[in-house]
This record gives sequence, structure tokens and C-alpha cells, in this order.
Amino acid sequence: MPRIPEDILQRIRDATDIADVVGEHVQLSKKGRNLFGLCPFHNENSPSFSVSPERQIYHCFGCGAGGNVFKFIQEIDRVSFVEAVTFLAQRASISLPQHDAQSRAHSEASDEIYRANELANKYYHHMLLNDSAGQNALTYLRDRRLSDETIERFELGYAPAEWDGLLKVAGRRGLNPQALERAGLALQRQSGNGYYDRFRDRATFAINNLSNRTIGFGARALQSEQEPKYLNSPETAIYHKGQVLYGLSHTRDAIRRSDTVIVVEGYMDLLSMVQAGIENVVATSGTALTEDHCRALARYAHKIVLLFDGDAAGSNAAMRGVEIALGSGADARIVSLPSEHDPDTFVQTEGTDALLALAENGQSALDFYLNQISKQHDLNSVQGKSQAIETLKPLLARLRDAVRRDLMMREVAQRLSVDEGALRQEMHHVVQRQQRTARTPSAEPAKTGDHIPEAPRREREFIGLLLHYPQYIRAASDQLDVEGLESTACRTLLQTLYDHFSEASAIDLSLLMDHVQEEHLGRLVSECAMFGFSEEQVDEQWKQSLSFFQRNALQRRIMTTRQALAQAEQSGDDGEVLRLSGELVKLNRQRQHHAEAQTS
Ligand code: UTP
Ligand code: MN
Repeated sequence: MPRIPEDILQRIRDATDIADVVGEHVQLSKKGRNLFGLCPFHNENSPSFSVSPERQIYHCFGCGAGGNVFKFIQEIDRVSFVEAVTFLAQRASISLPQHDAQSRAHSEASDEIYRANELANKYYHHMLLNDSAGQNALTYLRDRRLSDETIERFELGYAPAEWDGLLKVAGRRGLNPQALERAGLALQRQSGNGYYDRFRDRATFAINNLSNRTIGFGARALQSEQEPKYLNSPETAIYHKGQVLYGLSHTRDAIRRSDTVIVVEGYMDLLSMVQAGIENVVATSGTALTEDHCRALARYAHKIVLLFDGDAAGSNAAMRGVEIALGSGADARIVSLPSEHDPDTFVQTEGTDALLALAENGQSALDFYLNQISKQHDLNSVQGKSQAIETLKPLLARLRDAVRRDLMMREVAQRLSVDEGALRQEMHHVVQRQQRTARTPSAEPAKTGDHIPEAPRREREFIGLLLHYPQYIRAASDQLDVEGLESTACRTLLQTLYDHFSEASAIDLSLLMDHVQEEHLGRLVSECAMFGFSEEQVDEQWKQSLSFFQRNALQRRIMTTRQALAQAEQSGDDGEVLRLSGELVKLNRQRQHHAEAQTS
């Protein structure tokens, strides 16, 4: 695990404004010192998500999400801390130290492929909009009713009808043909001499990753006789078709908000739907739906709707998609459009509401699947039933979530009217065999380490006071043992304040969050920091809290000493009994003093 030096983290923090970063995902408006907007982490209608530019943190009063800018990227992009840091470092043009020669070489190779794709993207986009060569393509896209805004937003382009249009431009920017080849943008001539552009005389669709960097292209022919209709970038070091979903970098916030994602097959389908106001959509790009896709989508939404062309439903590819969705354990619904329609033509002729209505009334994946099977087998006959069960077995066995598998088995048994117990018995063996041979899943479900038990309000407020008025931290560390607090999370925070911030005149919350990130206490920090205090009462509040927690600490020590004493008595350790009794007397006297000090 590479460790990123603290000074680099500091530089990234200094160069980054959380309001800008959050602002790329959430519409924020100013209210007092803070900015407010709709929380991207839960569904809400009135803004309870706040960002403090002063403290460089965010906090949601609705769902409790909170943290610094690194945490925000981790949560919104579902990436690791290191990935979040890497992204923000790039954003701020700060280079991170490389670890070894191998990883440096690797990242240099990827850098080059990124550069090649970025250059191609700019070039194609420019050719479409600003060069007479692109006029035909522009007319084509407009004829297909794409607005200029959509063309801009999704960076559509035109690859000119030349063998070396891109190669030449790249050459002038110091990118050699080999680099373009590695990026999938150029091919080596059969003769072995020289290279030529892969995409020629086609409209291009830039495929971006979640950091919104272009990693590949889909390219559509402009004439119907041109084959193939779509040409796609091949897999490269940075482009893995089975993992990337077209449009997701633009649509993920809408997907998260609606907790539903509509999956379509075509680039044009996605663009038409987004343009028609249905934003929670992604497209598989030149490949069938994979389990990795489903896992990626599950991070953003619970519900998946597979939207099939009228003629595609029931096709092998569609059935495969349904199997994948079923096996992923997602709540998948299937919608097939009327024949002769695809999502693009449907939304353009029938309208947004008609498509939404269809999408909301999908069939469950299992129903859809059984329906299709019933077209081949008579599900009322014994033989048909057992064939259907044979088909379903591997699917059921793939479900990692035992609860879902259980529910599915019940449903299958009901649907086919077979004995549930017998089905279970049979499945038991299949599952065991499958799980023995199953590879370990590549993507582990996200750790839910963020679920820290609720700390008493009094303790959170006390920490909040120290965060706002750090001049008290020194005194606290002299007079208060962290044991005075009940919540272990708050104790850890307090100890961190004692250890690292007792000389601070103001607390850099973002820095504090990095200190406690391993304990997943970031959101507790933001929660504590959101308590407000009135200047005049702070001193009084500080004294009361200190005394309250001191008494708690004493109480706790008295209890543990009593227990130890009882044990020592039992085991007849006289020396220890003597020592502990003395201790207990002292502690009780302290408590007495403490009480008297309070009443006087
Ligand atoms: P379709 O053939 O359904 O085309 O392919 P479409 O999306 O409706 O495209 P338009 O409306 O005619 O422009 C669906 C998807 O399958 C992939 C592409 O990703 C396409 O968007 N595909 C299709 C290819 O990769 N290659 C092809 O030759 C055809
Ligand atoms: Mn189409």
C-alpha cells in the first residue's frame, strides 16, 4: 500500500477548494457562511447538505454523511483513499511520488494512452464543429435530432476521411504512431511499413471514465453502406469494455438521486434519452452487459432497468443480459419496447412520459426469464419444469447473497409449482460445488466501516466545542482523561486532538480528518464541527462539560478499581488488596472534592 507523504496531502488540500469539487456534483447556494445543496448521497427534496468553505468540510444533516474533500471523492466516486488523492492531485497538477520502476513505467504508458485519447477527442470535436470537413457529420447528427448542447456536452466529433489525419496532428504534438496504436487509435499497415488512422469518416462518441477522461471511442458510419455501422476502440491498458459504461460520468448523479439506472444498448439511445430529460441512463458500449457493469451500477442505484429494443428481447444477447442481472443479485426489471423501436426512436416519437411509464412497469428479471423459457418448454409438463430448473440452477447458484438466493428459490418453486424443499435440496449441492470452484470475487463489496455507533450528543458537542475553540484543548489534556467519555469514537477523536492539536490556534478539520481516516471517523468530525456556540456562553459550557466528564472519568476508575479489588481479594493477593484499597480511598476522596467544588 503506497503511503502518501503528509506534505503532499497538505499541498493537495491547499490547492483544492472543497466548494469547487463538490460544486462539480451538487448545485450549491450560499446561505450564511456555508453552502447548501441537495445531498448526493441520499434522496431528498430540500437541501440539507452543507459545505463549509472556511473549514473545508461537508456535512449532511439528513443522512449524516460528512468529511473532507478526500472523503467526498472517495464516497462520490466509490474509490479508495489513494485513488481519491491521485485524482485530486491530478486536478491540482501536483505530481505524486512514484514507487518503483515498474509502476512508473506502467503509469507512463497509461499516461501516453490518456494523452492520445485526449488529443483525439479534441481533434475530432474540433473537426466536427469548426472544419468544413465535418459539415456532413454535423448535418447527420442534427438530422438525428441531437441538439448542439448535447453534441457539446457529450463531446461528439468527426474523424475525417483521411488515412493519417490524427497521426499527423499527434506527430506535431510529440505523440508517435506507436503511442496511437497502443491507444487503439491507429493501426499498423499490413505491409508492416507505417500506420493509418483507425477511425475515418465517422461520427465519434467519446467514451469517458469516471474522472471524465476520454479512454476510447465509438464511431458511427455516416452512410448506410459503410461497414461496420459502429467501429469501437479496442481494449487498451486504460479501456476495459466490460467495466466501462457509456455516459456514466455524466449521468451518475441523476442515477444516484433516482436510485434507478436504465441500461440501454446504443450510444444514440443514451443521448436521445438524456436529451429528452431522462438522465438516469447508461449504455453498454460495443459489448454485452457484464457482472462488472452490474457491480459498478450497484454502487449508484439499487434498481436496474434493462431496456431492450423491440426485436432484441428474447434474443440470446438479451437473455444473457438478464442472466447477468439476475446473477448479480440486483433488483433488475426488464422492459421491451414495441417491435421496430429502440429507445432512441421510441422517445423521439412517443415522448418522455411514454418511455418513463414503460420503464416503471418492467417485469422482474425472473418473470421475464421464465416467460422466455416457457416459449421453448411447456412449463406445465414435468419435463418442461425440470428443463427450466436445469437452466435456472447455475443462475441461482451464482447469487452470492444467500438471502436473495433464498427468496429466488421460493419464487421459482411457486412459479413452476414444484416442491420448494426438493428444489432447495438440489440447489444445496450445486451451490456447494460452485462455491468451491468459484474464483474469489475481484470487487469486494464496499466495507461499511463507516457505521460507528452513535456517540452521546453531549460528547459530540464537547468535541465540537474544542474544534471551534482549540485554546481549550491544552487544558483538557491536562485535566481530563479520555476515559471520561463513553464513546470509543469520541475518545479516539479527543486523543487525536490531545496528541496533534494541543498547540493549534485554529483547527484544520481537513487535516484532522486525515489523522482519523483509518478509524473512519471523518463523518463524526464533521458532525461535531457543525454544532454552533454562542461566544458568551462558551466558557461556562466548557467548565460544565469538563466537570461532567471528569466526574465520569472518576466514576469509571472507581468502578474498575472496585472490580480489581474484588478479584485481588478472591485470589488472596494481600499486597494488591492493600494497594487497591488505598487507591480507592484516594479516588473516592477526589470525587468528594469534585462534588464539593461543584456546589460551592
Ligand atoms: P444497434 O445496431 O442497435 O444500433 O447497435 P443503434 O444503437 O440503434 O444505432 P443507430 O441508432 O443506428 O445509430 C446498438 C449498439 O451496439 C453496438 C454499438 O454500441 C451500438 O450503439 N454496435 C452496433 C457495435 O458495436 N457495432 C456495430 O456494428 C453495431
Ligand atoms: Mn438506433
